[in-house]
Amino acid sequence: MSKAVDNVSFDLAPGESLGLVGESGSGKTTTARCLLRAIAPTAGEVWFRLPDGRTVDLAQLTDRELKPVRQHAQMVFQDPFSSLNPRMSVRDIVGEPLVIHGLATGADLDDRVSEVLARVGLQPEHRARYPHAFSGGQRQRSGIARALIMRPSLIVCDEATSALDGSVQAQVLDLLKELQREFRLTYLFVAHNLDGGEIFAIGWR
Ligand SMILES: Nc1ncnc2c1ncn2[C@@H]1O[C@H](COP(=O)(O)OP(=O)(O)OP(=O)(O)O)[C@@H](O)[C@H]1O
Ligand SMILES: [Mg+2]
Repeated sequence: MSKAVDNVSFDLAPGESLGLVGESGSGKTTTARCLLRAIAPTAGEVWFRLPDGRTVDLAQLTDRELKPVRQHAQMVFQDPFSSLNPRMSVRDIVGEPLVIHGLATGADLDDRVSEVLARVGLQPEHRARYPHAFSGGQRQRSGIARALIMRPSLIVCDEATSALDGSVQAQVLDLLKELQREFRLTYLFVAHNLDGGEIFAIGWR
C-alpha cells in the first residue's frame, strides 16, 4: 500500500508557531488533516491538550467524542471558499461552525459574526456579501474569521497566505500575529517553500 505520509513526529507548545515545510506532495496537507482528524490516520497518535487540561488522543476518539473537541482546533486553507457553495453569504460561511456546533442562532449569531469580522479587519456590511465579491486578502480574512469564531486554541494554516501577493500577504501575516498574541493561539503553519518568507514572518523554531 502506498502511503501519503509516514514517520512524522513533532510537538507544539501552547502559544507557539511551528512551520511545516516540504515540497509539493510530501504529505503536509495529509499531516494537517490527520492532526485535526479530518481524516483518520492509519497509525500513530495525536495528543491534544484541551482548555480544561485534559489530554486526548485525537486518533482514538469516536466521531461523537470528536465533535466537542473539534472546536478547539481549526484550519485555514489556501482558498477557504474553493470547496464551499459560492451561493453562501459571508455571514453563513463564517457563522457555519457555530451553527454546526449548536452554539448560536438568530441575532446572537449575527452579533458573533459581526464581532469576528471586525476583529479580522472586515466590516459588518460584509456579512451580506458573497465570496466572489471579495479580494483575495478579504477572502483570507473571512477564512480566518471562520476559524477564529470557534475560539480555538490551535489553528492550522495550510498554505493560508501562499496565494496572496506581497503586501497583502504581509498584512494577513500581521493579522495572524496579532491574533496569536491576543488569543494565545498556537499555529501550525504549512508552506511548500521558504522563499515567500511566510514562515520567517510568523516566527518559528
Ligand atoms: N486521499 C488521498 N488518498 C490517497 N493518496 C492521497 C490522498 N491525498 C493525498 N494523497 C497523496 O499523498 C501524497 C501527499 O499529499 P499531500 O496533499 O498531503 O501533500 P502536500 O505536501 O500537502 O502537497 P502540496 O504542497 O501540493 O499541497 C501525495 O502523493 C498525494 O497524491
Ligand atoms: Mg497541501
